[in-house]
Amino acid sequence: MPFSWGILGAGDIARKHVAAAMQNAPGHRLAAIMRRNPAEAVAFAKDFNVDRVYTSAEDLVADPTIDAVFIGTPPSSHAELTALAARAGKHVLCEKPIASTVAAAQAMIDVCEGNNVRLMICHYQRANTRHQQIRQWLNDAVIGRVVSVRLNFSSYSPPTPDAWRHSRAVAGGGPIMDLGSHCLDLLMYLCGPIDTAAVLTDSLAYHTDVEDTATMLLRLKSGAHATVTTHWSAHCPDPEQSNAIEIWGTAGMILSSPLFSKDSSGKLLLHRATGCEDHSRPAGKRIHEDVIEQFRIAVATGGPMLVPAEDALAGLEVILAR
Ligand SMILES: NC(=O)c1ccc[n+]([C@@H]2O[C@H](COP(=O)([O-])OP(=O)(O)OC[C@H]3O[C@@H](n4cnc5c(N)ncnc54)[C@H](OP(=O)(O)O)[C@@H]3O)[C@@H](O)[C@H]2O)c1
Repeated sequence: MPFSWGILGAGDIARKHVAAAMQNAPGHRLAAIMRRNPAEAVAFAKDFNVDRVYTSAEDLVADPTIDAVFIGTPPSSHAELTALAARAGKHVLCEKPIASTVAAAQAMIDVCEGNNVRLMICHYQRANTRHQQIRQWLNDAVIGRVVSVRLNFSSYSPPTPDAWRHSRAVAGGGPIMDLGSHCLDLLMYLCGPIDTAAVLTDSLAYHTDVEDTATMLLRLKSGAHATVTTHWSAHCPDPEQSNAIEIWGTAGMILSSPLFSKDSSGKLLLHRATGCEDHSRPAGKRIHEDVIEQFRIAVATGGPMLVPAEDALAGLEVILAR
């Protein structure tokens, strides 16, 4: 029997990436979708050939044919929907950021543990094959000891009417939550846990409820330093310049960009004393197919999740400690 998915919040990310991955990944099936707007729910189901359509999350999680839910709603609803799914015995793959508050994120972890279901957060860049290659290089000390990391993730995003991303109550913050949460997750995946942090957030371009410009200065438990900059305010049309990670070590430097690639394509350079090796790659498999397959394997085996919810909580604590 294929692993059977239901989507709670069939919106933009579900339409662009997640639904197609569930339909195409061998051993997976998109069984049902839910959003509150009935016409939009029916249109989504028609586009993706899904026969079970719900407008209530309670009804979807009660569907006995579903093994797990993907939560693709805005952050302030993640905790409530996770609790609903966990109490119905469904495993949960939830979009980032894990939640809009630390208390809500901790409640998600607790309710899943308490109901014996698994929880993973969709920081999909861990499944980018460029980043898996970097992790291997760092484990092999190919660039010596890592001393400094720079991450920049920018996406020019002026406010639009009714955009939930610019509402603190719904999103919990601006680009630091939207983009910075991905940066912190990638940093921890590659270089280990964060020890100390200082965070600056400001509204320099727009005057909405949330910041549009954020900078984080970090020391990792390894002793390495890191900076993370995220903007919705700065405009650079070249993604290779505006979305990159640089890792500086005692014996070399690694550069990978862009950070939002959904198929692992992009630039990957390894600089060492012997010269620069170009490990850049063309489009590969859809990353979300690997994400859901690794989720399925962890559920089946009881093994570790690709993105433990505890890591996402640790990132959120850094972001919200400001
Ligand atoms: N878009 C992206 O490129 C992207 C990328 C990575 C991650 N994400 C993350 O994915 C999540 C969703 O983002 P999005 O851009 O896909 O948002 P979106 O287009 O606004 O879609 C959100 C969906 O959730 C439904 N919804 C909203 N509030 C709900 C609630 N309280 N209960 C149940 N359903 C609710 C909405 O439909 P109804 O109003 O009809 O219910 C809609 O279908 C966010 O956490 C975001 O950070 C998005």
